[in-house]
Amino acid sequence: MIERASMQYTTSIKKMMSWQKEMKALGLTIGFVPTMGFLHEGHLKLIEEAKKSSDCVAVSIFVNPTQFGPGEDFEAYPRRLDADIRLATEAGADIVFCPEVKEMYPVDGGIRIVPGKLAKKMCGASRPGHFDGVLKVVLKLVNIVQPDTVFFGMKDAQQLAIIETFFRDFNCPATIVRVPTVRDEDGLAKSSRNVNLSTDEREDAPIIFETLKHAEVLVQEGVTKEAVEKFVSDTLDNKTSGKVDYVSLLTYPDLEAPTETSNDLIIACAVQFTKARLIDNIIFKREG
Ligand code: PAF
Repeated sequence: MIERASMQYTTSIKKMMSWQKEMKALGLTIGFVPTMGFLHEGHLKLIEEAKKSSDCVAVSIFVNPTQFGPGEDFEAYPRRLDADIRLATEAGADIVFCPEVKEMYPVDGGIRIVPGKLAKKMCGASRPGHFDGVLKVVLKLVNIVQPDTVFFGMKDAQQLAIIETFFRDFNCPATIVRVPTVRDEDGLAKSSRNVNLSTDEREDAPIIFETLKHAEVLVQEGVTKEAVEKFVSDTLDNKTSGKVDYVSLLTYPDLEAPTETSNDLIIACAVQFTKARLIDNIIFKREG
């Protein structure tokens, strides 16, 4: 890891690219942590993992408008740029890339990346076009930063599966590292959106993870997909004030309906609270 006396950040694509070229010319490997900011311990864990395996670490902070649909929370998405730059730097980032929207999207050439069947389920079914926007910005960021390794959190398991498939299918040279979800003590998955929960909603929210853990036990006991999904959906409907968006028991990372021989599974859900849509999942192996 390079020692740097002071933090560095840039809003410029050109400067970001000069930095990565400089690092590469020095023969250093780059670990990259793309984020939308409002950093929490989950992001800090990604930076920590990047530091362990890379000579230098770049973090991006960009609330990407192309992955938000009409009526979604683009405007309300929490932002805190100065504090984020400080947090990322203290966690070990060597550079923070925080472009403005007009820097990333000066013109709209109309080209979309369409992720296909993996994006038709779960969040993709409720948020049409969301993963097109994610892939577009991830490709742009990776072209700008040109990392050796990119770090993604497993809370966004569908996003991760889609990006891994995209990198594989398009021979993107960077390696992806999956980093486990970081949770509060009561089990709630860390998310920038948690700040938009009311006090009562925050009290209810740990029920999501508790219910998913219970669902995993039901799967291990041989309960059917339909019954497990109904159990999670009914429990969340009854025990939280949120509205269940979806509950899916699927194979992971292929996101297909499990057969009797499918062992790698995900149980995932999304719950819409007043101002925050929370997602969570457990990825596990079927025993026996
Ligand atoms: O996971 C996120 O924070 C975003 O979807 C990402 C990958 C930074 C793209 O905007």
